[in-house]
Amino acid sequence: MTTLATRGLVGAVRARLGGETGHDEATLREAVAAALRAANVVVGPDGLDQAVRDVRDELFGAGPLQRWLDDPEVTDVLVNTPGEVWVERSGRLSRTSTRFDSAADVRTLAVRLAAAGGQRLDDAAPAVDARLPDGTRLHAVLPPIGGACTLLSLRVVRPRPFTLDELMASGTVAPAAVPVLRSLVAARATVLVSGATGSGKTTLLATLLSLVPADERIVVIEESGELQPAHPHVVRLVTRRANVDGAGRVGLPELVRQALRMRPDRIVLGECRGAEVRDVLAALNTGHEGGFATVHANAAADVPARLEALGSLAGLTRDALAAQAASAVDAVLHLRRAGPGRRVRRLEEVGIVRRALDGALEVVTAVRWTAGGDPEHGPGWPALARRLGADPDGAGGPALARRLGADPDGAGGPAVASRLGADPDGAGTGSCCGGTP
Ligand SMILES: Nc1ncnc2c1ncn2[C@@H]1O[C@H](COP(=O)(O)OP(=O)(O)OP(=O)(O)O)[C@@H](O)[C@H]1O
Ligand SMILES: [Mg+2]
Repeated sequence: MTTLATRGLVGAVRARLGGETGHDEATLREAVAAALRAANVVVGPDGLDQAVRDVRDELFGAGPLQRWLDDPEVTDVLVNTPGEVWVERSGRLSRTSTRFDSAADVRTLAVRLAAAGGQRLDDAAPAVDARLPDGTRLHAVLPPIGGACTLLSLRVVRPRPFTLDELMASGTVAPAAVPVLRSLVAARATVLVSGATGSGKTTLLATLLSLVPADERIVVIEESGELQPAHPHVVRLVTRRANVDGAGRVGLPELVRQALRMRPDRIVLGECRGAEVRDVLAALNTGHEGGFATVHANAAADVPARLEALGSLAGLTRDALAAQAASAVDAVLHLRRAGPGRRVRRLEEVGIVRRALDGALEVVTAVRWTAGGDPEHGPGWPALARRLGADPDGAGGPALARRLGADPDGAGGPAVASRLGADPDGAGTGSCCGGTP
């Protein structure tokens, strides 16, 4: 059925359903069949099935985009112009045959979806970041900001997070990284997940949160409510925009402060991208260890500059930010899209956060994994191993060090051990990744 025909049918079905709210499948099917009969349109069972699907998508779903959102392989749906609809599958973008009749149709859909996500989208608020009732993340920008047509970006949020095993199977997490990740969560380390846009930060964070013991309470603070950890005790605070009178805005800094009063065992900031960096670092420095946040950065070494830029928005000096971050954050997990077509999202390295001799904040590699999954330990490893309780001199140290891939007696023994600085008998000097002294 063409879009125009569907639109006529949708109008007729909507009129038949009237103010009814409980649209079960049978009621909808009956209304569609009746509307088709009234219009003298004859369809077979398959045609009726298709018409019901089209009407359902138009009334309650994402219209012509719904079929892509329903495709389990599709992660992103992007509309650039009425005739240009792209989808991302397994990390690869491809153009679809889906077309809208006009730019007005794209705008109408964007406005309806924004409303379904509890947000307004109009000339006074021409950009929106919202979450649809099924979890899909919506971003839309109206013309003329985005050109002649509304730009729509939909990101499918998986109804359940990947397990660590699944991330391992897909090549995102090297097998040798699994014990490190588990230990970071178990040791209540405070973790920043970094990476470029779409590198899988939120996805990895959801997986890590699923490892948090079930008797802990997680308070998640987000702008669009997209984190879906598999955990029995999660409460969520989502920012609110100002109303038409410019009142009622509740931003991330305020929500971080509220979260502190909610008896959190873990405070999670979905994405740190503004002045809330001050509040979250203050929280993490005052006994709320074990927290998580994601931050945009192209490389782990760029994280300090990014944090400094965010800190300056909050009036923090470089020095104050460095002091706060170095004492609050235990580890940076950096993700990168790699491989042919940048299709694989890979956990590339874990770094520690510390202050250099000149006082500047730095991220130092503790361990990174090669494309083949082999660990290469860096100068930050001894500090990380200590934080994870794998200090060879401490109680339980050697056994845990072995689990973390730092077995001094195992394959590559002395060399690995000295790279780690974790040899119980060695001087523990440590050297950098790839064995460079
Ligand atoms: N390891 C993975 N395997 C398969 N798909 C993944 C993986 N990680 C992320 N994805 C998919 O890639 C898309 C982007 O992931 P995600 O939202 O986690 O990235 P992000 O870095 O948080 O992005 P943003 O910068 O926009 O916040 C999602 O649709 C997600 O389902
Ligand atoms: Mg994200």
